[in-house]
Amino acid sequence: MEEINEKGKEIIDKENIQEIVEETIQHLNNPVNDLKPIVKRYLSVVAKVQTEGNKFYFSDGEAKVEIRVVSDEIIRVRLAPHGVFLADFSYAVPVVDQKVTAFQLEEKEDHYAVSTPVITCKIRKIDFCISFVENLSQQVMSEDAEPMHWEENVDFGGYYVFATKKCMPEENFFGLGDKSGNLNLRGRRFQNWNTDAYSFGWNQDPLYRTIPFYTGLHQQAAYGIFFDNTFRSYFDFGKEDYNKTSFWSDGGELQYYYIHGPHVMDVVKRYQSVTGTHPMPPKWALGFHQCRWSYYPEKKVKEIAEGFRSRNIPCDAIYLDIDYMDGYRCFTWNKTHFPDPKKMIKELLDIGMKTVVMIDPGIKVDDDYWVFKEGKENNFFCRRSDDYYMEGHVWPGRCQFPDFTNPKVREWWGGLYKELVEMGVAGVWNDMNEPAVFGSGTFPNDVRHNFDGFRGSHRKAHNVYGTQMMRSTYDGLKKLMRNKRPFTITRAGYAGMQRYGSVWTGDNVATWEHLKMGNIQCQRMAMSGVPFCGTDIGGFSGEPDGELFTRWIQLGTFAPFMRAHSAGDTAEREPWSFGEPFTSINRKFIELRYRLLPYLYSVFWEHHRYGFPILRPMVMLEQEEMSNNYREDEFGYGDKILVCPILEQGAISRMVYLPKGQWYNFWTHELLDGGSEQHIEASIETMPLFVKAGAVIPEYPVMQYVGEKTLDEVMLNVYFADYEVKSFFFEDHGDTFAYEQDIYSEKKFIVKGDTKTLLIEQTTEGLYTVTYELYNFNIIGIPFNVKRITADDQEIKEFYVDKGGDLHFKSSKNFNVIKIFTS
Ligand code: GLC
Repeated sequence: MEEINEKGKEIIDKENIQEIVEETIQHLNNPVNDLKPIVKRYLSVVAKVQTEGNKFYFSDGEAKVEIRVVSDEIIRVRLAPHGVFLADFSYAVPVVDQKVTAFQLEEKEDHYAVSTPVITCKIRKIDFCISFVENLSQQVMSEDAEPMHWEENVDFGGYYVFATKKCMPEENFFGLGDKSGNLNLRGRRFQNWNTDAYSFGWNQDPLYRTIPFYTGLHQQAAYGIFFDNTFRSYFDFGKEDYNKTSFWSDGGELQYYYIHGPHVMDVVKRYQSVTGTHPMPPKWALGFHQCRWSYYPEKKVKEIAEGFRSRNIPCDAIYLDIDYMDGYRCFTWNKTHFPDPKKMIKELLDIGMKTVVMIDPGIKVDDDYWVFKEGKENNFFCRRSDDYYMEGHVWPGRCQFPDFTNPKVREWWGGLYKELVEMGVAGVWNDMNEPAVFGSGTFPNDVRHNFDGFRGSHRKAHNVYGTQMMRSTYDGLKKLMRNKRPFTITRAGYAGMQRYGSVWTGDNVATWEHLKMGNIQCQRMAMSGVPFCGTDIGGFSGEPDGELFTRWIQLGTFAPFMRAHSAGDTAEREPWSFGEPFTSINRKFIELRYRLLPYLYSVFWEHHRYGFPILRPMVMLEQEEMSNNYREDEFGYGDKILVCPILEQGAISRMVYLPKGQWYNFWTHELLDGGSEQHIEASIETMPLFVKAGAVIPEYPVMQYVGEKTLDEVMLNVYFADYEVKSFFFEDHGDTFAYEQDIYSEKKFIVKGDTKTLLIEQTTEGLYTVTYELYNFNIIGIPFNVKRITADDQEIKEFYVDKGGDLHFKSSKNFNVIKIFTS
């Protein structure tokens, strides 16, 4: 029974009085809210409706809700408790409105309906509960269990804001960015507050990044909710109440996007359409990176770089951690260890090794240090509420911190990279940007921020601080590198961070549990719109043995970002550190990374252009299979390769689930039927790896670094299928933004086979002409005796079948149709 007071505002559910008492006690125990009675206010009866273009306003007399049609599949909801919305500004969403075919508002007996051709948002008159329904199936995708509600925040102003939705029967949840623990989030509660979480553990929360976006999946249909709120936020997926899922935050606006599927993949793609995709990275950044805290002096750095070359282990980048700096002052060099950095960087580059340097946000308080002086003179450092500077200890000692939420500060900071870029530095590693402060953890809440002119305390800016630092680095580098693609990596971030660079999962540990956790973390980041992600291969702290390191290299081969990193107090950790057989196996897998690089680069393009993630968890590949809600080891690497890492010590085989369809064992070429689990051998030399029948996988010869060799042909591995399959192959300059002017080459292959023939069709889009002339075909699994091959009706005379049954021949890169016949 609910009672509504005469203002129609306050609802007290008598049956829930115990719950309210408990909440009040909890609230009183929270020092921030010391002695404040809580009064939750709920939306009540819809009293007024107004339309303004694609925005619809519903009011109960005082509170107001905006329903905005963003696209046919996306609707945004906002709540203004006293009728006045906050400024419509978001760091995550550059442009709100997308293309909409049609929309309308209708009044029904008990609800209002805002609909597009695909979805309908229903607002129930009696209690303002909102639901989203798929038009075609009439399936209720998401439905409020209670009307949206809020609670005044007497300490800081504004409101704690809450949304509570029903957990649908058998609903499972995925995404939410940076969480450790199982991929499926059902039954757990999380908090988002970017945290320096050194040696974090299974289920530890919060971690380094905040992405308040999840995908719900029930009755085989998926939708997403993106709660675009930068304050400390919380998500409960049926933990407190099995039948409810809720999200709330300590401030800001209750503003969320409903993003329709029904495929999990559609949800993620559409989330990317809201928050953006990753720009194309420099191609070399997809190679192997070697890092350590820290390689110094210069002699050591060169020794490591040469160590790769002398052992023929490919590597594209070497990292300089904080010790390259003078007393940890950013943008300076320790001249004792690095007397001539420009020369060193050039020498490294001469052997194909790019230099990536670390930059932290903490600037040493030192009047003789130019960066500090400039920041101080221009008032660029963060201040406390009473105007004192925000000071805290980090690596250099007492530091002040730039306010990256100020566009002028971002511009300044971006320009500070000038000298590093002139020296030839190829990439920047942004660390400690949660922001991390020794002792206190982070800034106090009262620190003030510009927030791009919209002002706010650290409560509001904390979770975006890291992304804004990376943004300023990315934009600065882009300008200074004269439009070459910058490479940046960050530890902290907020939704939309993918527009500015890559990410690693932070300070992990050299354990088998972390190997498993890292695999899940990268998949979860992929489902949360962040494609370019990797873990510290080998574990940051602790000591892996050769087996663990090799298994991590194997998994890392299929992480979009592949970097080995370790803490300074651990034993040396390069791919050759564990002796044989590990060195050879590590080399074999790093070589595989380079062989498959044109495939990864193409998959990256599919991400950039179309919003597909690079890693695809099983639930994304086959959501109709209920067991895939719980699978988290196997994953898709693009849409053509399936990877199943070995995550247990001593394992030499494992069960692997293959999605429906046909798959080739990458190593043996054995053709397997999907739709069931298979027992797969996987001694330490190998790892279960499968290619989808019908795939065309481009392959490069092994190179020691990207671009080492000029190609005169490219190998195309074609995996026979007796159905039609489409594949992409993307190429371009590899390091400029010319692709934005259509200077790229996007090839589409269609493979169609039957018992007597195999057809391979090619179409090309884009203005880039590749420099090689030939394709070297390697056709796998052809089920008939090959008698004749034609390319655009011209006979290809030279071909042969090797002992393993693979067919080999060459053709011009410009073919339209290749036909392979048995007679
Ligand atoms: C942080 C980083 C780590 C780095 C270290 C020293 O712990 O997460 O990767 O090596 O700082 O800069």
